[in-house]
Amino acid sequence: MENCETYEYDILVIGSGGAGLRAVIAAREAGCSVGVLCKSLLGKAHTVMAEGGVAASLANMTNPDGTHEKDSWEVHFVDTMKGGAFLNNWRTVEIFAKEAPDRVLELEQYGAVFDRTPEGLIAERPFGGHKYRRLNHVGDRTGLEIIRTLQDKAVSVGMNVHMEITCTRLLKEGNRVVGAFGYYRESGKFVTFKAKAVVLATGGWGRMYRYTSNSWEGTGDGLMMAYEAGAELIDMEMIQFHPTGMIWPPGMRGILVTEGVRGEGGVLRNSKGERFMFDKKYMPALYNGQFADTEEEGARWLTDKQNNRRPPELLPRDVVARAIYREIEAGNGSEHGGVYLDVTHRGADYIKRKLPSMYEQFHALGGVDITKEPMEVYPTIHYTMGGVRVHPETCATTVDGLFAAGEVAAGLHGANRLGGNSLSDILVFGRRAGIAASSYAKEHTLGVLDNAQIEEEQEYLLLPLKTTNGENPYTIHSELQDAMQTNAMIARTEAGLLSALEKILELQKRAEKLSAPGDRFFNPGWHAARDVRFMLRASEVIVRCALERKESRGAQWRLDFPDRDDEVWGKKNLIASRNGDMVKITTRELDAMPPELKRLFEETK
Ligand code: FUM
Repeated sequence: MENCETYEYDILVIGSGGAGLRAVIAAREAGCSVGVLCKSLLGKAHTVMAEGGVAASLANMTNPDGTHEKDSWEVHFVDTMKGGAFLNNWRTVEIFAKEAPDRVLELEQYGAVFDRTPEGLIAERPFGGHKYRRLNHVGDRTGLEIIRTLQDKAVSVGMNVHMEITCTRLLKEGNRVVGAFGYYRESGKFVTFKAKAVVLATGGWGRMYRYTSNSWEGTGDGLMMAYEAGAELIDMEMIQFHPTGMIWPPGMRGILVTEGVRGEGGVLRNSKGERFMFDKKYMPALYNGQFADTEEEGARWLTDKQNNRRPPELLPRDVVARAIYREIEAGNGSEHGGVYLDVTHRGADYIKRKLPSMYEQFHALGGVDITKEPMEVYPTIHYTMGGVRVHPETCATTVDGLFAAGEVAAGLHGANRLGGNSLSDILVFGRRAGIAASSYAKEHTLGVLDNAQIEEEQEYLLLPLKTTNGENPYTIHSELQDAMQTNAMIARTEAGLLSALEKILELQKRAEKLSAPGDRFFNPGWHAARDVRFMLRASEVIVRCALERKESRGAQWRLDFPDRDDEVWGKKNLIASRNGDMVKITTRELDAMPPELKRLFEETK
């Protein structure tokens, strides 16, 4: 076994996006020593891809009669449950909706600079599935501002940052997580961490798909480390296809086009020029009567939000993504195979002020001036609703000493996440995870690291360097992306999913013998070899769960089971856990919602 550097902390936070940084702040405020691991650089996180705003019911927006919109945590609760097709953990949603406003105001105290209403309050914009204007924003760069703010705050409270480390294994003593093992990406040197408690904040996993808004880090390492350590995963089939990603030019395909464009009045059209979202076939029964029936009413809403219903472009993401897909399948696609998103009617000044990044993105990457011409868009893999099962109050996983927050954790968003809820998620539950992990750390001493586990992981990592004539990890990754993009995408069938599963199992077999020529020093091929094994297992879990859920709900759209089946599937989560080398799939009944929360659905109608 190779000796390696070892660091000791009360709390180890793996991941330095918004959830990780908010956990750091909470743990430091609780008096704990904290180490934070970044796969890339501090401040570079998928958090920045939540562009359009952070959802919290501050009720800052004024109606034409001078009253404030009647937003409240109760309405946010109802919207989130409906958007999640009731697969959410209601207690998690309740905590979230109640605490989100305080977390946003706290951010402001940390120094975040939000856009303002004329009265000087934080400006809020509409987003899909949110009944009121609730997306507190900084132009279309909200995630970026949140990361900047949390980073400044975390630096000020003090933390030890370990950058460019890929963490590959959680280390256990009995059933308790007591540390983590990984390697420096630059030198390839191994490193271990001992901690009284570990907070997993590694974000989501989109890189097994070909077109995604996720950057290279999103390979599911944290998710799979938790799974391998024995944690339960829930609802892994629920992958969010954000309705609007870039589709052209080809190299830019998948890059996010913020929902803020539709929030600011952007409209979707097919190649015939039709506002297809007004077609009643796309309106789910749950939202009947709540959206504008005509384009005229939709247009009036821009100036009078109180008395006019929102245009259907602002339905939840799963609904809009499916409609775009169906329009294209029906032969109504745009020049490059997407649909058109047009915001030109808002005028150049307004667009440049409210959507500066979109303006620059299309100008620089696509040669398109969005103040003068429509964008072409297509759904892109953006977010993972499933993930590690956690306790609603404490974010404790089912493994002792391991906590999880943010996108890697599951329960809040159910079958479909509403835009902007990810940013408030990371604030609310990043803080809660940091607090609970600190309490745990105060009740426990450091555990003992098991050399056998470290040695096993070292050997596993080094194998591709020693293997000649093995498979190229990039080839395996590319074939996996093709299989997932073709058969585990937005519209799923049993035949397609079985074909994806067969391919994944074949690739897993081939990935037992990977080659990464060269040495450990700055060797991206070697990194890819570890990443792809995590992605292969995560993909297997996604596909097995998608096969198991024989209904359509939220992001899971089964062409062979097109209806929502509340009797059979509406009351349970799918659980995936490790059973040796096999993936075990079971179900778990959702807790019954208490009457005082059930009542809210009637009261907020
Ligand atoms: O469209 C967006 O700006 C993304 C927001 C989110 O994912 O929450």
